[in-house]
Amino acid sequence: AAPVVAIDGPSASGKGTVAARVAAALGFAYLDSGALYRLTALAAQRAGVDWADEERVAAIAAALDVEFLENEIRLDGQLVGDAIRTEAMSAGASKVAALPAVREALLFRQRAFNTKPGLVGDGRDMGSVIFPHAPLKVFLTASAEVRAERRYKQLIEKGLSANLTDLLLDLQQRDERDSQRSVAPLRQERDAKLLDTTGLTIEQAVDQVLVWSRE
Ligand code: CDP
Repeated sequence: AAPVVAIDGPSASGKGTVAARVAAALGFAYLDSGALYRLTALAAQRAGVDWADEERVAAIAAALDVEFLENEIRLDGQLVGDAIRTEAMSAGASKVAALPAVREALLFRQRAFNTKPGLVGDGRDMGSVIFPHAPLKVFLTASAEVRAERRYKQLIEKGLSANLTDLLLDLQQRDERDSQRSVAPLRQERDAKLLDTTGLTIEQAVDQVLVWSRE
């Protein structure tokens, strides 16, 4: 199998940005696994299916008609844009992601991204469940305050509504749910390198991962 760089960590730690840039630098494919949970939550909402209905949400996840383009995602043939980046969809993703049947339904779809010459995947369980044999595992984190500020800037730049106090609460709630769930809970794997980006720029974080990838 082609090499995998597994980048896991809590909400808004900068995983997505760092993972995408590392993938570009290495010429690897990039898997935004969180997008699959966000798309599942969105597709369920559009189908009028409750996020707690495990069986029906899992069926939606298994049948997702999704296409990842360079900087966009198509769901059922239509560009999704920022519809999956709202705070409502962040919460929905975290809810459907706690359902074992949903995670199971998305397992092989994620492994299929692992083509030559390699893959950078970001999420919560890249190093633990999806790619347990990844030669490089990174646990990327930052203080909750810094993460809330980063997410705030991201949402404002997209023209989406945001409130810093609410965001901090949302992040903490989501981290709590992601860490306490029974399947694939968010935690640092024993063989993962810790990268605390609280005081780092994106460039510095990217460079550190690239240095590790050459070791
Ligand atoms: O960017 P942010 O961390 O806010 O969100 P994301 O990576 O898009 O993930 C959204 C939600 O999906 C998370 O809160 C997790 O509950 C879930 N998720 C997961 O369970 N496993 C993954 N591999 C990726 C995301």
